[in-house]
Amino acid sequence: MLTEQDLTILIKQQVGKAAADRIKTGMIVGLGTGSTTAYMIQFLGERLQSGQLRDIKGIPTSFQSTVLAKKYGVPLTTLDEVEQIDIAIDGADEVDPQKNLIKGGGAAHTREKIVDCLAEQFIVVVDSSKLVKKLGSTFLLPIEVIPMAMNPIIRAIEKLGGQPEIRMGIKKAGPVVTDQGNLVIDVKFDSIDNPGELEKTLNNIPGVLENGLFVGVADIILVGEIQNGQPIVKEIS
Ligand code: 5RP
Repeated sequence: MLTEQDLTILIKQQVGKAAADRIKTGMIVGLGTGSTTAYMIQFLGERLQSGQLRDIKGIPTSFQSTVLAKKYGVPLTTLDEVEQIDIAIDGADEVDPQKNLIKGGGAAHTREKIVDCLAEQFIVVVDSSKLVKKLGSTFLLPIEVIPMAMNPIIRAIEKLGGQPEIRMGIKKAGPVVTDQGNLVIDVKFDSIDNPGELEKTLNNIPGVLENGLFVGVADIILVGEIQNGQPIVKEIS
């Protein structure tokens, strides 16, 4: 009998594999961050090792995806070396019916936004629990901030009606420090009615580096779920 945890892993593997299967020889690939994308990087590595794919270069969005790419033998490059990204594959914390996202559960949303926005095609890999009617209903909105601006930013967010909390480390005393050496504030908004407007307003606060709203960026959402005891993948495009 499979546990809830086994089923979650099966779904993530299936959706990660479905995304890796869309990568073609010669592509520059944006490598997202998170537990679902980790399977995509693993399957991409396996396709390369088996000779099914050749001449792939990955652009990592975090320290985590850099480490995984090296582990599974995916060659890496940088934005200084390439002119375009063919495909980016990344996870999300929430997806609304317009394919707008909240990202940043892994505190990697700043680099993720750079890479995902540059891609010719951006594919999001999630399980069906991430689909919401309205952004902000299940997940706090992550905002990466420069440490010396933390207090003024908190006050500015409160003026906008948000309830901010500094993200704290797990198995690490003190706050989470991002790959850029910054801090993350997670914000509860009662209702995010206009994600595009809020994305701009937040990024306009001095000291905010980037927030986790990804508006109008995703092309395809691959959604994994269990049907009749089997993991399946649906596409929203
Ligand atoms: C990291 C992210 C992740 O893509 C997001 O948190 C989803 O992760 P997971 O696939 O583990 O649920 O935005 O900053």
